Amino acid sequence: MEVKTSLLDNMIGVGDMVLLEPLSEDSFLDNLRKRFDHNEIYTYIGSVVISMNPYRSLPIYTPDKVEEYRNRNFYELSPHIYALADEAYRSLRDQDKDQCILITGESGAGKTEASKLVMSYVAAVCGKGQEVNKVKEQLLQSNPVLEAFGNAKTVRNDNSSRFGKYMDIEFDFKGDPLGGVISNYLLEKSRVVKQPRGERNFHIFYQLLSGASDDTLKKLKLDRDFSKYNYLSLDSAVVNGLDDAANFRTVRNAMQIVGFMEDEVQSVLELVAAVLKLGNIEFKPESRSNGTDESRIKDKNDLKEMCELLGIEQSVLERAFSYRTVEAKMEKVSTTLNVAQAYYARDALAKNLYSRLFTWLVTRINESIKAQAKTRHKVMGVLDIYGFEIFEDNSFEQFIINYCNEKLQQIFIELTLREEQEEYVREGIEWTNIEYFNNAVICDLIENNQNGILAMLDEECLRPGTVTDETFLDKLNTICAEHQHFESRLSKNSKFLTDHSLPHNCFRIQHYAGKVLYRVESFVDKNNDLLYRDLSQAMYKANHSLIKQLFPEGNPAKVNLKRPPTAGSQFKTSVGTLMRNLQTKNPNYIRCIKPNDKKASHIFTDSLVCHQVRYLGLMENVRVRRAGYAFRQAYEPCLERYKMLCKKTWPHWNGPAREGVEVLMADLQVPAEEFSYGRSKIFIRNPRTLFFLEERRRQCLQDLASLIQKIYRGWKCRTQFLLLKKSQIVVAAWYRRFAQQKKYQKIKSATTVMQSYARGWQARKLLRELKYQKRCKEAVTTIAAFWHGTQARRELRRLKEEARRKHAVAVIWAYWQGLKVRREYRKFFRANAGKKIYDFTIQRIMQKYFLGLKTTLPSMSPIDKNWPVRPYRFLDGVHKELRRIFHLWRCKKYREKFTEERKAVYEEKLEASEIFKDKKALYPSSVSQPFKGDYLEISKNPKYQKLNSAVDEKVLLADVVNKINRANGKGTARIFLLTKKSVLLADQKTGQVKASVPLPDVASVSVSTQSDGFFALKLKEGSASAVKGDFLLSSERLIEIITKLHRIGATTADRDQLNIDISDEFLVQFKQDKVCVKFIQGGPKNGSGVSCKRKNNRLLEVSVPTTA
Ligand SMILES: Nc1ncnc2c1ncn2[C@@H]1O[C@H](COP(=O)(O)OP(=O)(O)O)[C@@H](O)[C@H]1O
Ligand SMILES: [Mg+2]
Repeated sequence: MEVKTSLLDNMIGVGDMVLLEPLSEDSFLDNLRKRFDHNEIYTYIGSVVISMNPYRSLPIYTPDKVEEYRNRNFYELSPHIYALADEAYRSLRDQDKDQCILITGESGAGKTEASKLVMSYVAAVCGKGQEVNKVKEQLLQSNPVLEAFGNAKTVRNDNSSRFGKYMDIEFDFKGDPLGGVISNYLLEKSRVVKQPRGERNFHIFYQLLSGASDDTLKKLKLDRDFSKYNYLSLDSAVVNGLDDAANFRTVRNAMQIVGFMEDEVQSVLELVAAVLKLGNIEFKPESRSNGTDESRIKDKNDLKEMCELLGIEQSVLERAFSYRTVEAKMEKVSTTLNVAQAYYARDALAKNLYSRLFTWLVTRINESIKAQAKTRHKVMGVLDIYGFEIFEDNSFEQFIINYCNEKLQQIFIELTLREEQEEYVREGIEWTNIEYFNNAVICDLIENNQNGILAMLDEECLRPGTVTDETFLDKLNTICAEHQHFESRLSKNSKFLTDHSLPHNCFRIQHYAGKVLYRVESFVDKNNDLLYRDLSQAMYKANHSLIKQLFPEGNPAKVNLKRPPTAGSQFKTSVGTLMRNLQTKNPNYIRCIKPNDKKASHIFTDSLVCHQVRYLGLMENVRVRRAGYAFRQAYEPCLERYKMLCKKTWPHWNGPAREGVEVLMADLQVPAEEFSYGRSKIFIRNPRTLFFLEERRRQCLQDLASLIQKIYRGWKCRTQFLLLKKSQIVVAAWYRRFAQQKKYQKIKSATTVMQSYARGWQARKLLRELKYQKRCKEAVTTIAAFWHGTQARRELRRLKEEARRKHAVAVIWAYWQGLKVRREYRKFFRANAGKKIYDFTIQRIMQKYFLGLKTTLPSMSPIDKNWPVRPYRFLDGVHKELRRIFHLWRCKKYREKFTEERKAVYEEKLEASEIFKDKKALYPSSVSQPFKGDYLEISKNPKYQKLNSAVDEKVLLADVVNKINRANGKGTARIFLLTKKSVLLADQKTGQVKASVPLPDVASVSVSTQSDGFFALKLKEGSASAVKGDFLLSSERLIEIITKLHRIGATTADRDQLNIDISDEFLVQFKQDKVCVKFIQGGPKNGSGVSCKRKNNRLLEVSVPTTA
């Protein structure tokens, strides 16, 4: 059985202040202390959770605890922040109401821790799955990153948030987280350059120096020693219980989970390093001739390293630290900076660098965690903003922070105190008003557009002329003097003239949470938040993508002369937006209280707690709560929600909703004092009653669910049964049919078997019978066949015998007939047949021979010796004759083709042959030589012009010959010319005629039988020419010369034939002497060829080499 628990079980003090009796400030504090001493740090005022900071870890945030509080009613278990988180989450998931969790309290009261607890609880109870887990992890891991960069140790809190944070977590309809959006509010950037005593700069600087590897530090050009950096205060560099090195690893890991790229992380660290380096840049004065001081950078090493880190040109930055350019409309004026201004510029740059980096980080985280789906989603906002702060020295930042807290208090008052009370009056519920302090008046003092402090500060900042913090204070003194929450020594209000706790350069505001003294110093500067344009332009020029992004106004292309909004007005606007946003959501309050000022556990400082209880308005809260009603709801949704609890209203109520609710309440017998009817809502006094209603509703819903289940199950079973039944019938029908089919098949096959046996038997019987009949028939046939065979064979033999006899008769007759015919025809046959056959055969052979010859005839060349072989010997004569005839015929054909000249040539050749063939050994060598005749062409040769003119006839032959000297047998070259009429001898060189012999004077020519070219022209005795004697000449063309000479003789009718002697010895008449020329055969060719020697007076011997 389920064990019912309640807030009231094992209660220490009272868990809900509403139950406190008697109600007084003392009892309230006693209750808080008692519970705090017993580690009960959470206490309710109705639905508001008061949380006391335990300053030590308590075992109340385990996964078991999460399970314990999961899906339980708010008042069911002892007070816990988880109960509030669960209530908010379920209301968001089940009732579709956007939620916001407002966590307030002073610095160090535990707001940030509370916000983390809420987020981790929601993460633990909402949906699961790979995607969802990733989203959750990213949402949770955004915290360490932002804390490292935005939190610092202050005197109030070792991990104080120095920025405001509001985070919207987005859920889908199932309550699974989709993503989130973080808004950040004004980072306290003055901390970057200066920290109050006992405080530290932002954690990341210390984490980087202690946690980064040597390698990383080297890359960032950093030193591990904190003392090397001007921007890091030394007095509390190391904080107890804070492991910077380990935290650095956590931050790096968280950045990775959130989705930072490695190079982005590197860029971020470079910027952090650059800020540290920037702090180390120092300036010294340098006097100028005009008497002014100008600043110079003392040691440029840090500047150089910083420029290297950020990729900035050193000279550009150096110039930006020395000059300031002011642009107004069209003009540009450059002025030098003095040392103080240079330091101011340096610090402004450092602050801007860091705060812009922080804003970039938030934007970058938002990019990673933003919800992907575009569907409508529900939102749970968690607000963790800097708490109310009172320091020894309060400046602009504290002023802004405290203003923000005023606004939050306003919201609380609006929604819990004022709104609630006003609602009772509106709804006509009997109500006695409860007094409370409304801080709207303080908010007005700060934010009023006409004379609010922020508006005046802006006015001062924008005013022309000299503006200082003092002029600002003067202004406040005049305008706010009468305001009851503003105090200043010099105000028109003389009340504070003697108040020594109020210095001259300060003003004091009575905040809802106490009086705070603000020093006006640097209010104007901080509100202006000016960064010289030269610096932002230098930053824009950096070769570092992140830096470039952070200083977009440095882009020279986008010079904007308009002033940017002041820090104060920006903050006012964003707080305004936040407030409007919160008002649209269902608020859940966690009010954090700090038990002591020493960050110590177990110490409960009454005065401190009492102060907080007062200014938080907690007592009023309890009173309103006790006098009022815990729960209210409009009639319609109320009836809708609980109508199932009464038979009259279930399932439909037709009348007005209010009557329906009244009937319902009466039916449920709820005591009348437990509720009241308003005009449009029912008010329920006690949560108990509400739980009673909820419990009844839950039961009723269970019953209804059971009913629905019952009916559904019944219906399901019935349909299932009907389906089964129907199926069973179908199955049975199919089965029966199948069984019958099988049985029938069996019978059928049995019958067939039997039938087959019977039929077989009958058939066999019949077969036997038929076989017997067949055998009988076969026997008859066989016998008949044998008989017929015998008969047939006998007949065949007889017929054969008969045929043989007939054949013999025919043969004998034929022989006899042949004999007779042969005897008769023999005489005719012998007389003619032989000759005819012979003739015929011969004729055939001849025919074949001639036809064959026709195809095998040799070529038409006269010198072709080929002739086909004769086929038969008897054709020998014919064959030879045919050969001869064919040869003559082709010679004739050949001759017919000759021209006249060629004919003459051949005639000459023929004549040569007739004269010399077989008579002179020289002849055969001449056959192949053409008889050209005129070898010298004297008519064309100019050398022989004279000679040519001496010749009046056509030259038949012209050649060079040797004239043999009769004295020694040696030869002299002479031109030999032959015309139709004469022979001429002329000098070879000059062409002068030596001798001219008319042809009729030539009696004969003598030549040898040998192969030499010697010839003698013998002249007629008694002729005119004969006086000089005969000529003995020698020429290679002897044959041609003689032939031509001979031909002239032959063709000339009036002359005798020229005689030609061919013999190896002849006489030559030289003048008076007759000399014998004798040719002898010399040895075989001895190189000298033919030689001629005079042997004696009467003998000239010519030796001719033997021809081979
Ligand atoms: N619920 C808690 N359990 C244990 N320690 C806590 C709790 N709440 C706060 N603290 C301690 O108090 C310190 C200050 O809390 P924090 O939430 O940072 O204060 P705030 O944000 O209100 O300035 C924390 O660092 C932590 O040590
Ligand atoms: Mg905080």
